[in-house]
Amino acid sequence: MASFDPFSPVIPEDYERLAGEFGIKRITPDLVRRLPDSYLFRRNIVFAHRDLERILDARDQGRPFAMLTGIKPSNHFHVGSKLVADQMLVFQEMGARMFYAVADIEAYHANRQSLEESRRIAESNIADLLALGIREDSYFYFQSSQPKVKLLGYLYARDVTNNMLRAVYGEKQIGHYLSALLQVGDILLPEEPEFGGPKPVVIPVGLDQDPHIRLTRDIAGKHGLVVPSSTYHRFMRSLTGSEKMSKSEPEGMISLSEDPEVAKKKVMKAFTGGRPTVAEQKKEGGNPRICPVYDLLLYLEPDDSVVRKRFEDCTAGRIMCGECKRDVAERIARFLESHQEKREKVLPAAREIVERASKDCP
Ligand code: TRP
Ligand code: SF4
Repeated sequence: MASFDPFSPVIPEDYERLAGEFGIKRITPDLVRRLPDSYLFRRNIVFAHRDLERILDARDQGRPFAMLTGIKPSNHFHVGSKLVADQMLVFQEMGARMFYAVADIEAYHANRQSLEESRRIAESNIADLLALGIREDSYFYFQSSQPKVKLLGYLYARDVTNNMLRAVYGEKQIGHYLSALLQVGDILLPEEPEFGGPKPVVIPVGLDQDPHIRLTRDIAGKHGLVVPSSTYHRFMRSLTGSEKMSKSEPEGMISLSEDPEVAKKKVMKAFTGGRPTVAEQKKEGGNPRICPVYDLLLYLEPDDSVVRKRFEDCTAGRIMCGECKRDVAERIARFLESHQEKREKVLPAAREIVERASKDCP
């Protein structure tokens, strides 16, 4: 039965609706065979896409292609953010030209966060990316200091009506709409002449970003550009059990810079998919599919057989949550220690990138 497969995907609720309405597709085994091997695909964490074939074809035919992603620097990266870096790595390994947008104008609009604060957090985010293996010569830029991105936002605004924006985002401040247009500029930037002109570009995102992808695909089609591809991932659950780890729930989140001892305590206090009593759990087994402790293993444990065994022991009632948590807490602490060591070493490089990018004018 499918539910006994530890890596059968937990599909976010809005997926089916989006797939039906807008033509997002599941990543099939055929596609996975063409992609570099990664736990993200093996474990169905990255589970859907649009036009990913276009990227693979470019790679196979030796044509240039790019990867771009953007993140609001409103948050220090947490253990769940690592999946974005790991996806970037997949495309880096395939030979993509790499772009990373620090969405500081969006953070200003959506989070009321100053550009100075964004700069500070971006440095931390970029240090995490470098420590996770993203190359220093990737193109990192700030929305606020990349002139072309803003120009593109202005120019493409010609094709965007008030009704389109309202339909996609609801009634919002103009700033919110401007951020959306800026994101269109981000996504189409790699196709500009100074970056080699039109080419396939892949945008790895969560489903929440799909409205931006649809808007951009629409615009790209009208301007003779290659319509961008995208991949969709499922987010790591918060330790409180809610759908997505985020900074609005600090007790549910483990930052990549978190003291490993504090992280362990958070894991020990986490919500689980366990039963109310040990007797029940022994008889009926736990439910890893709703369990954030299992999610930590699923996203961070490199060895598939460890994850598989935990799934089986949990569902068979052979392991209790206390023991499971202690083990996962240890693994997370070790991961954080090793990550933070690497992070320390690349901090000066991250600082330099921020210095350069915040006065960028290519
Ligand atoms: N809107 C994204 C967020 O909320 C950030 C973002 C800005 C982005 N520009 C992008 C994502 C371009 C993908 C591609 O985090
Ligand atoms: Fe979650 Fe582990 Fe408990 Fe299973 S045993 S429900 S995986 S904490």
